[in-house]
Amino acid sequence: MAKRKSIFICQECGNEAPRWMGQCPACRAWNSLVEEFPPPEGLARVPFLDHRNEAEKARPVRLDEIEVGREIRFSTGIDEIDRVLGGGIVRGSSVLVAGDPGIGKSTLMTELGKNLKSHRLLYVTGEESPAQVKLRASRLGVSGRDFLLLPETNVESIIHSMQDIDPGLLIVDSIQTLYRPDIQSAPGSVAQVRESAYALIQMAKMSGTAVFIVGHVTKDGAIAGPRVLEHMVDTVLYMEGDRHHSFRILRAVKNRFGSTNEIGVFEMRSTGLHPVDNPSRIFLSERTEDTAGAVVVCSVEGSRPILAEIQALVTPTSYATPQRTTTGYDARRLQMLLAVLEKREGLRLSSNDVFVNVTGGLRLTEPAIDMGIVAALASSFKDRPVDRRAVLIGEIGLGGEVRAVTHLESRLKEAANLGFRNAYVPSPDLANLRKPADMVVEGVASIHHLIDLLL
Ligand code: TYD
Ligand code: MG
Repeated sequence: MAKRKSIFICQECGNEAPRWMGQCPACRAWNSLVEEFPPPEGLARVPFLDHRNEAEKARPVRLDEIEVGREIRFSTGIDEIDRVLGGGIVRGSSVLVAGDPGIGKSTLMTELGKNLKSHRLLYVTGEESPAQVKLRASRLGVSGRDFLLLPETNVESIIHSMQDIDPGLLIVDSIQTLYRPDIQSAPGSVAQVRESAYALIQMAKMSGTAVFIVGHVTKDGAIAGPRVLEHMVDTVLYMEGDRHHSFRILRAVKNRFGSTNEIGVFEMRSTGLHPVDNPSRIFLSERTEDTAGAVVVCSVEGSRPILAEIQALVTPTSYATPQRTTTGYDARRLQMLLAVLEKREGLRLSSNDVFVNVTGGLRLTEPAIDMGIVAALASSFKDRPVDRRAVLIGEIGLGGEVRAVTHLESRLKEAANLGFRNAYVPSPDLANLRKPADMVVEGVASIHHLIDLLL
């Protein structure tokens, strides 16, 4: 093979540059360009795939002529995963399962082998020995003749095995260990990761086998070798969680076959990942007495309302620049809420350090929890507790007004089920609200009104 000229690829965005540069011209990331060899010409075709049917496929077809064939979805047997996928695994689809090393991706993938009825599972492992996988599987109670293990890193061999076995589901753990013999770069490089995934995705589409691609995330949040995979696959699932907590959250950030932002909640135990049917109960389980700075909010994640506790701590700063630290919450949103509190309520927060935690390792992004954050901040600042049987729901605008939220009734229902008897909601939502029986629902118009009512 003639030696090809190398190019430089950005690990962050996949952009190509002819020479090394300190900063990627496309995504502006620093020091992200690495040297690679470009794939051979015309690589859209994977040499070892059977492309025979392609010529006839490549013509326009009337929608009503297209045959969907066998039933297109099948269940994983685990409700939490099915929901995140949009109702089960779609045949021929490709799913990227991304997360930090050690978060539990291999565990989750092994669990898939437990309840996969009448579908063969081919588990390709490039990181662990078959004995290691077997050890984990027996710990999880996974056994069976339909769980096939393949210790292999060569994509060409993997595809040959797929053709022999015709599994319903292929899992590759992880994509960073695979390589294609026709690509020059090393395993784990952008080109190898991208082209290996490409071949597997093509094969999945042609054969109807669904493929789950496990990918490790690098420290800065980009999938190593890199984000390009996100564009190629049908569904991207992130597995998150705090290493110090036992909860793991599976979140769909892209889904061609279902809604995004759906989450699945699991608990990591010595016997594997156990689905959590009622996440609110768990996220609230560590609540203690009324403490200043702690409030309960309700966030809708996908189709489910989840209650969680917010804790804020506001203390006088000893630095020139006060600290703002968040866990499980967006720091920029916090800045905005602090500014609103300072401007509209005159709270002197700029001379205080501020810490905000979402307890239980949950990460919340929904604006409907704004009101809870503001109440927690004000409560800690004034050192006065908020009624612990109350749940707070509402978005805060820049003018300090409380704005309407979606799904208010289902949020209140969830809170009532968990024994909450008081709720503070946006006053614009109060008209036509069907509130749960025996719940006192109070409308709040502004943060000024909120602080009057609560503190
Ligand atoms: P693993 O699935 O290997 O992580 P990943 O594939 O994302 O790198 O999970 C690693 C962690 O999970 C490890 O620290 C041990 C823990 N674990 C349990 O707590 N219980 C279990 O039953 C299993 C299999 C793993
Ligand atoms: Mg693993």
